[in-house]
Amino acid sequence: MSSRTSLSRFLIEQTRSHQTPAELRFLIEVVARACKMINHQVSKGALGGVLGSLTSENIQGEIQKKLDVLSNEILLEANEWGGHLAAMASEEMDEPYQIPGCFPKGSYLLVFDPLDGSSNIDVNVSVGTIFSVLTCPEREDICGDLADDAFLQSGSKQVAAGYAIYGPQTMLVLTLGNGVKGFTLDTELGSFILTHDNMQIPEQTAEFALNMSNERHWQPPVKRYVDEMRAGEEGPLGKNYNMRWIAAMVTDVHRILVRGGIFMYPWDKREPDKPGKLRLMYEANPMAMIVEQAGGAATNGYERIMDIEPSTLHERVAVYMGSKEEVERITQYHLEWAPENPDLIK
Ligand code: F6P
Repeated sequence: MSSRTSLSRFLIEQTRSHQTPAELRFLIEVVARACKMINHQVSKGALGGVLGSLTSENIQGEIQKKLDVLSNEILLEANEWGGHLAAMASEEMDEPYQIPGCFPKGSYLLVFDPLDGSSNIDVNVSVGTIFSVLTCPEREDICGDLADDAFLQSGSKQVAAGYAIYGPQTMLVLTLGNGVKGFTLDTELGSFILTHDNMQIPEQTAEFALNMSNERHWQPPVKRYVDEMRAGEEGPLGKNYNMRWIAAMVTDVHRILVRGGIFMYPWDKREPDKPGKLRLMYEANPMAMIVEQAGGAATNGYERIMDIEPSTLHERVAVYMGSKEEVERITQYHLEWAPENPDLIK
């Protein structure tokens, strides 16, 4: 008999030992099934006619890829009928998605970026799906539509978070708030199998991930930190750093989860009224929960990402996450600079 632990078995054991509600277990199983379907579409590439862009833009003003829209539909269809959700919100939709009246409603909210890093699809580089699970606030009219404010909860309220990475291997990385587990898709069996038990990010690192081409748009604390890393052994940090940038947050953070490093997407002055490129609810919060659960840290330069109270569904945020020591250093540089420059803080 095989001693391998499937995602289903892991979830059932969680339900027994950690009182993970059966509804949450079902939710994760459904999301995992949807990720398998997205993986199938992504892997077909040009053969499936799914590459390329549409003419539509999402709420962020980005041109949607065919696979962005398809992945969004897969997640909506998989999750709308099971009775486990009160509503969903997606990076690809302006408004929350209401559970159709013909289906029962549940107590959770599912928030997702259906296909993160989608600019990589056409060049056959890894992409992923990010998801976050919140509890729906109590309400009197359980049949009525849910407005954005039901979703506006800090990341610390997440009851689960995860991502799927569609790469040389397809993996599902999951936290239910008690550590991080990585499951690899066994394509012959069609099952996610536990392969990475208790994922831990090393506290120290010598690797960083950021888009260096934006350097001229950054603020002084970021320039200081990056200059110090690039100065290597001769500089104040006294060691040589290596840079990696895939331009898909899932893939960059996954690497950091496996071997350490710091991922950065700072505020920059290209869009001065927006605090960063990445989205708080769909990207930063779920990835921050995973990173923290793996022993790392995640801030926006000033405070813990998961403490930020969102004011809009599609809010953006500056992101520094990964190995604790490095995230603390860049946060310290922001905090030292801020009192002298109160008008410039973003
Ligand atoms: O938010 C989408 C995203 O693709 C992230 O996954 C990634 O980290 C970032 O944008 C890449 O941005 P850039 O285009 O600056 O490399």
